[in-house]
Amino acid sequence: MTEQGRYGEVYGRWQADPEGFWAEAAQAIDWISSPQRIFDPAQGAYGRWFPDATCNTCFNALDRHVRDGRGEQPALIHDSPVTGTKSVYTYAQMLDEVSALAAVLQDLGVGKGDRVVLYMPMVPEAAFAMLACARIGAVHSVVFGGFAAKELATRIEDATPRVILAATCGIEPSRVVEYKPLLDQAIELSAHKPQTCLILQRPQVEASMHATRDKNWRMLVAAAKAQGRRAECVPIAATDPLYIPYTSGTTGKPKGVVRDNGGHMVALKWTMDNLYGVKPGEVMITASDVGWVVGHSYIVYAPLIQGATSVLYEGKPVGTPDAGAFWRLIAEHKAVVLFTAPTAFRAIRKEDPDATLLPAYDLSRFRALFLAGERADPDTLVWAQDILKVPVIDHWWQTETGSPIVGNPLGLELLPVKPGSPTVPMPGYDVQCVDEGGRPVPAGTMGAIVIKLPLPPCALPTLWQADARFVESYLAAYPGYYNTSDAGFIDADGYVFIMGRTDDIINVAGHRLSTGGMEEVLASHPAVAECAVVGIRDTIKGEQPCGFVVLKSGITQSPDAVERELVALVREKIGPVAAFRLALTVGRLPKTRSGKILRATMKKIADGEDYAMPATIEDPAVLDEIGLALKAKGLG
Ligand code: COA
Ligand code: AMP
Repeated sequence: MTEQGRYGEVYGRWQADPEGFWAEAAQAIDWISSPQRIFDPAQGAYGRWFPDATCNTCFNALDRHVRDGRGEQPALIHDSPVTGTKSVYTYAQMLDEVSALAAVLQDLGVGKGDRVVLYMPMVPEAAFAMLACARIGAVHSVVFGGFAAKELATRIEDATPRVILAATCGIEPSRVVEYKPLLDQAIELSAHKPQTCLILQRPQVEASMHATRDKNWRMLVAAAKAQGRRAECVPIAATDPLYIPYTSGTTGKPKGVVRDNGGHMVALKWTMDNLYGVKPGEVMITASDVGWVVGHSYIVYAPLIQGATSVLYEGKPVGTPDAGAFWRLIAEHKAVVLFTAPTAFRAIRKEDPDATLLPAYDLSRFRALFLAGERADPDTLVWAQDILKVPVIDHWWQTETGSPIVGNPLGLELLPVKPGSPTVPMPGYDVQCVDEGGRPVPAGTMGAIVIKLPLPPCALPTLWQADARFVESYLAAYPGYYNTSDAGFIDADGYVFIMGRTDDIINVAGHRLSTGGMEEVLASHPAVAECAVVGIRDTIKGEQPCGFVVLKSGITQSPDAVERELVALVREKIGPVAAFRLALTVGRLPKTRSGKILRATMKKIADGEDYAMPATIEDPAVLDEIGLALKAKGLG
């Protein structure tokens, strides 16, 4: 690590005086009342940042830029190859849209602290809705469009929203996904019922409306605008929640991560300057989805807080129309940075291995590609570097942290890239690699990756209405440390390598999924006696789920028929995003003598890797049976 360089100096400054460091970073934010106290260790599970400050995130994302002369600069560009449309909103226009929508929400009785669930595709209104909530102090929770009704219902039940904002459909290249029937079904399933659903009718699907509950989004916003109605920014405590992203836990019940207002803004602004190196007025493309944390932070909040221009891309890396889609976006919008998941680059490479589509585009302003969401395999990273001829920066973070834990701080200085490593800890993060007893392991040795408390601004202070679950899930295993549930190692230069999860979470095309949640669905099928889901290697998506099932005796259905039903069931209960296509019937599951299913060994067999026979295995012959079942499907 270059201790002499800018990174070493800045990280050292944070280490020497964390509060001083964040106090200085906080000066880049417009506060309503600025923080007198930076950190209070006595509040919350491990302390709270900026406990006495008040602010408004929407003000920092929009109003202040209009005030400071950026009104005519594009804030958001919607580029949608799936609908064949493009639109541009300047900061002034976006402020009008958001203020009017916020007034509509107030009319619907939404106030400070109320939750609002968003079930939205990649349309500008999704960003307007997030900011409209922020403006009036409501707490939004965006549910990814690829989740099915039951997953949406679980989130509605946990967040208990007063209002739900939804569009009538999302558009996948292969089909139009009608959201309204899924929404109606979710409300039916949920014990909590929202008062109102504000429905954005898209031209592709005109949904029928519930007589009393549903209201027409466009009509209400148009009426509010016609009356000149705008909601003003409401003062919010820095520690008040801004949004709740739900993320996979180890059971079917997702965790509601709490994101605060003040720390979130401070940390995101810092990353724009020092990690991504994107300046006000420049263009950033984050090809993710507003349903994921990456979309919250780097499609919506960070670029806008920075006064940059964000591109909201409603399309895919390939097939809309081809593997040159990202190059077109970068050239056309003059982007300086693209941020996406490695899986997108694996998909592009498969379609166009020699990057023949690239030379047609002018990428002269393009400075760096950022990858996150899953491990960037060195092969893909080096390929991207070779074709793009700019730094390709892997960086590691989690929904829980809201911004990168480990990265290569381009804005400060580009550290040497070691493919396979997201580089070094960002200020705020004291990252350590420990053994099961919490003792640091030597450099280069695999262990659990943990973060010394307190977590920095932006990281979760707790889980939504589940303080005990927060402590139990993250803080209990290694006292004084946050357990990331990722495993890896730190090399002698201080570079962090993240190799995989220590829990049952798998990462499919950059989407975080719980195998435990899938097992719950498989086990609910009447023919299934027991089951195990593991993530097996996939050349494009990184991993794909594979379900091994043992059928109850006396089942008359053929195994093939049950397998087909199981695939359909996971799609129906969790959603297409689970990408669950492999159900394999086996005679029995490999277990230890104490009855623990040997999932890790099954995964190794499926991936064709060598494995050591577990000493405690009940019957080693079962592993051969698993191998044969996989072979029958052309796997293993
Ligand atoms: N709404 C409804 N359905 C959706 C959806 C959405 N927003 N997003 C994905 N789906 C569906 C897809 O249509 C697909 O359905 P299918 O089974 O009928 O084909 C299924 O969910 C699985 O989607 P996905 O895993 O994304 O695979 P894909 O084949 O559609 O695309 C990639 C493959 C690699 C191109 C794609 O996964 C990709 O670009 N991923 C980027 C990852 C990302 O944004 N990660 C966020 C963290 S940075
Ligand atoms: P999510 O909360 O959906 O952002 O997923 C977070 C998880 O994805 C992490 O805990 C890691 O397991 C994985 N992940 C994200 N980014 C990276 C990365 N750059 N390298 C390795 N794993 C990553």
